[in-house]
Amino acid sequence: MGYIVEMGELYLAGNYRREKIAFVTGRGTRLFTEDGIEYLDFTSGIAVCNLGHCHPALVEILKEQAEKLWHTSNLFYTEPQAKLAKKLTELTFGEKVFFANSGAEAVECALKIARRYAFENSHSKKFRFVALENSFHGRTYGALSVTGQPKYWQGFEPLLEGVTFIPPNDLKALEESLNDEVCALILEPIQGEGGVYPLKKDFVEKAKELCERRKILLIFDEIQTGIGRTGKLFAYEHYGVEPDILCSSKALANGLPLSAVIAKTEIMSALKPGTHASTFGGNPLACAVAVKVLELVSDKTFLEEVTLKGKVLKEKISALGSKKIKECRGMGLLLAIEFHEPAQSIYEGLLKKRILTTLPKPNIIRLTPPLILNYREIDFFVDSLKELV
Ligand SMILES: Cc1ncc(COP(=O)(O)O)c(C=O)c1O
Repeated sequence: MGYIVEMGELYLAGNYRREKIAFVTGRGTRLFTEDGIEYLDFTSGIAVCNLGHCHPALVEILKEQAEKLWHTSNLFYTEPQAKLAKKLTELTFGEKVFFANSGAEAVECALKIARRYAFENSHSKKFRFVALENSFHGRTYGALSVTGQPKYWQGFEPLLEGVTFIPPNDLKALEESLNDEVCALILEPIQGEGGVYPLKKDFVEKAKELCERRKILLIFDEIQTGIGRTGKLFAYEHYGVEPDILCSSKALANGLPLSAVIAKTEIMSALKPGTHASTFGGNPLACAVAVKVLELVSDKTFLEEVTLKGKVLKEKISALGSKKIKECRGMGLLLAIEFHEPAQSIYEGLLKKRILTTLPKPNIIRLTPPLILNYREIDFFVDSLKELV
């Protein structure tokens, strides 16, 4: 164990289950430890470094912006922030953008918009949220309160009032839960932390129809599924259903802290001056990088390649025909291998072979490699997995 791990163990809060590995550099799909050992990264820092580590074009933009301007506060306008908002609206259904720093903050903002929108429209009785069981929306109180996994609530209750959870893809529960008191329904098109479970198209379509009819806002949490991860810029495009509010973060600035809440003007206008704010939200460094990220990721050919690589990876894993594997599912390069048994030893086996993955559930290994990975790396991963399953 090197000195970085030792120092970390001594001084860092113990809230993460960390591997005893310290990385000092990263390039593309690779991370390098303090001892110079190379790892193939099939995590992208949990779906963050979609363009890989230290992408040269992003490094250049970051350096340029670092020489120009770091921070002004949101009492003023900056070019990177205005440009990024423009780009996000051009690439989505949205017309206005609010910037924060993390996924949970974007979710907090979306929940606040929903309540405030009801308030502005004299529907103060519409205060409830409907969310899905097995969802994950973050660790701050609002985001935690709509996270449908009780293990995360333990010791933190009471949570926010007025949240109803329904099972994913349950049309009857959806219909029954969306009553007069509900201001918003929040969903992830694919439940990422929950173990990579894509929602069914008819469920998402029904959600849209009911929300529209009953004047309930539909919030999509695309913090994990966005920025090209599923082969589209945002996963809602697979469903042909636009939300009222879209939350984006993680890969938006490829590793710099940034999140965005995107909506039409009518809905975003619920945020009057003074109703919500963030000191660092939309800082020039992260926004300058994000403009370039969107330019690179929204390219049609790039996205088609993501779809193809995801398909090849999924097919090769399924073709292993291992009795231990229950299924390989997901979209684009957001994939899960579900095992019939606990997968800890397979996860550790991959780690020994210097491949990083995540284990969102004891029997599920999640694969979120950088979208720039190549076919040789796909083969290397599958060959390594083959020796373990
Ligand atoms: C779908 C989703 N929402 C929200 C979050 C929370 O993001 P953050 O950790 O940046 O607060 C995550 C993080 O994994 C996520 O996957």
